[in-house]
Amino acid sequence: MSEIERILNLKEKKNKNLLSKLNLSFKNFLLKIFSKHYDFKEFHKRKKTFSGWGLTTTGTIPPWENKNDDEMFFFKNSVEKLKSLIKQKTFRLTQFEYKDTNYDKIIDELSWRHYVVFNSVLLAIKDKTSNKINLVECGVCDGLTIYFALKACEKRSSSYTGYLYDAWENLKNDKLRFQYSYLDLEVTKKNLKMFYENLVFNKGFIPKVFDTAKNPDRINWLHVDLNSNEATQSSLNFFYNKITSGGVMLFDDYGGFHETRNIIDDFIKDKKGHFINYPTGQGVFLKF
Ligand SMILES: C[S@@+](CC[C@H](N)C(=O)[O-])C[C@H]1O[C@@H](n2cnc3c(N)ncnc32)[C@H](O)[C@@H]1O
Repeated sequence: MSEIERILNLKEKKNKNLLSKLNLSFKNFLLKIFSKHYDFKEFHKRKKTFSGWGLTTTGTIPPWENKNDDEMFFFKNSVEKLKSLIKQKTFRLTQFEYKDTNYDKIIDELSWRHYVVFNSVLLAIKDKTSNKINLVECGVCDGLTIYFALKACEKRSSSYTGYLYDAWENLKNDKLRFQYSYLDLEVTKKNLKMFYENLVFNKGFIPKVFDTAKNPDRINWLHVDLNSNEATQSSLNFFYNKITSGGVMLFDDYGGFHETRNIIDDFIKDKKGHFINYPTGQGVFLKF
C-alpha cells in the first residue's frame, strides 16, 4: 500500500465513523421530536396496509380496521368474502391467473383502491334510498371493481341496476396499452352471479356498443377503467349528461397515465363539481 493510499484509507475510515455518529444523533433527534406524537414501536409492529401497483407502503391504520364504523366493517367482510370465493374458485381473476398467484396478497394490497370504489358509491347514493340507483362501469374485466360497487348498494339496501360495458375479447388496436384476449363474458357472469338479476351486460366495443346497448337514462355512479384514451373520451361524452346532480364519476387511470389524465382534466374543467385525486391513482368527481 503506498503512502497516499494509506492516507486515503485512513480518511475514509474517519469519514465513515463521523457519518455513523451523525446518522445516530440525527436518528435520536428525529425520535425525540416525533415520539411525542407517535408510538414508534406500535407503528413498526403494524402490518403495511397498502403497496398495490407500485404505490408506496403505509403503516397508518386503514379505515376498515375501525371497529366502530358499520360500513367499514361491512367493507372488510366483503374483502374476506371475495378472498374465500376466489379460494373456492367461484370467483376467477383471469387477469392475475399465472403460476403460484397469491390472491390473498393481491386483494389485500388492492384494498385502498377498492375502498375508494366502495366509498364513492356510498357517496353517490347517500340519501337516495327511495329512488332506484343506476351504476355504470366502462371496463369490467372479471368484475373485481364492480363487485365492491355492488356490495355498497347491497349495504344501503338500495334497489339498483348495474350497467356493465366491456368488449370481453381481444382488442385489435395498436394504441391500446393492454390486450385482453383472455377475457370471457361467461366467466364475469359467473363471478357476479350473486348480483345477477340486477345486472345488464353490454358486450361490445366502446363507443360503437352505445348504439345498440341497453343504456340507462339516469346515472348515479359512473366508473371508467378502460386503459384507453379514446374509449375514455367517448364514455365521458356519452354518459356525462345522464349523471344526476350529486352523482359521482370515478376514474381508475387518472394518476397512472398522462394522456388519460389530460382528457379527464380537459373534460371536467368547465363542469360544476369537485374533483379529488387519490394516492391510488384514482380520481373522483362529485357532480353538483
Ligand atoms: C383495466 S381493465 C378493467 C378492470 C376492472 N375495472 C377491474 O379492475 O375489475 C380494462 C377493461 O376495459 C376493456 N376495454 C378497453 N377498451 C375498450 C373498448 N374500446 N370497448 C370496450 N371495452 C374496452 C377491456 O376489455 C378490459 O376488460
